[in-house]
Amino acid sequence: MKKITIAIDGFSSTGKSTLAKQLAQKLQYVYVDSGAMYRAVALYALEHKLIDDNVLNTEKLIASLPYINVAFQYNNSLKASELYLNEVNVNTEIRSMIVSNAVSIVASVPEVRKQLVALQQQMGAKKGIVMDGRDIGTVVFPDAELKLFMTASAHTRAQRRYEELVSGGTTVSFDAVLENITSRDHLDSTREDSPLFKAKDAIEIDNSSLSLEDQFEKVLALVNSKLAIA
Ligand code: DC
Repeated sequence: MKKITIAIDGFSSTGKSTLAKQLAQKLQYVYVDSGAMYRAVALYALEHKLIDDNVLNTEKLIASLPYINVAFQYNNSLKASELYLNEVNVNTEIRSMIVSNAVSIVASVPEVRKQLVALQQQMGAKKGIVMDGRDIGTVVFPDAELKLFMTASAHTRAQRRYEELVSGGTTVSFDAVLENITSRDHLDSTREDSPLFKAKDAIEIDNSSLSLEDQFEKVLALVNSKLAIA
């Protein structure tokens, strides 16, 4: 059966990764969370003290890029891929608020994007991939057969993220999460290199009041229509 490329873009906490994982499992495709890759580079920058008071030492980060190795490894018992930064499993650390607050500045550096986009394109060279992020349908896979653009209100997204963090044991206020989401929306959509925007041929899905099941059914129908003509 012919395989296609599915690109899922959108604002943070719109459920991109949940949908991408559901699709990858159903279709037996590879799932790649491109945001995790930017998060790993942000973690590297934090660990190496390249960020001070929200100011990034861009020159030093660029000079370090040859030493930053980001790779996914499949964990059989979790039945999911985990992210490794220079051979160390950083899957949990990259979700912390400290990393969330630093990642947009790191993701705005063109050299960082160039390195990660090249890696993402290699991962998708054989199709049969579902990748989520901010520039997947616009920059990484402009020829993807199916492009989705996910949205939901900032309040709905902050509530989801807050519940996720609290259930994972993090102590955080709802207002801090909402602030992080709105400031990342702004930074991601206004940065010069590869800003977040809906590709002309992307299908918008607002899931503020759409159940996971209904969303999945809707998207699966889109996938099937693309597979029929692929
Ligand atoms: O999807 P996420 O929230 O884990 O992404 C973390 C950050 O990485 C997000 O604020 C923007 C950036 N990002 C990006 O610039 N391009 C991508 N393809 C994916 C994420």
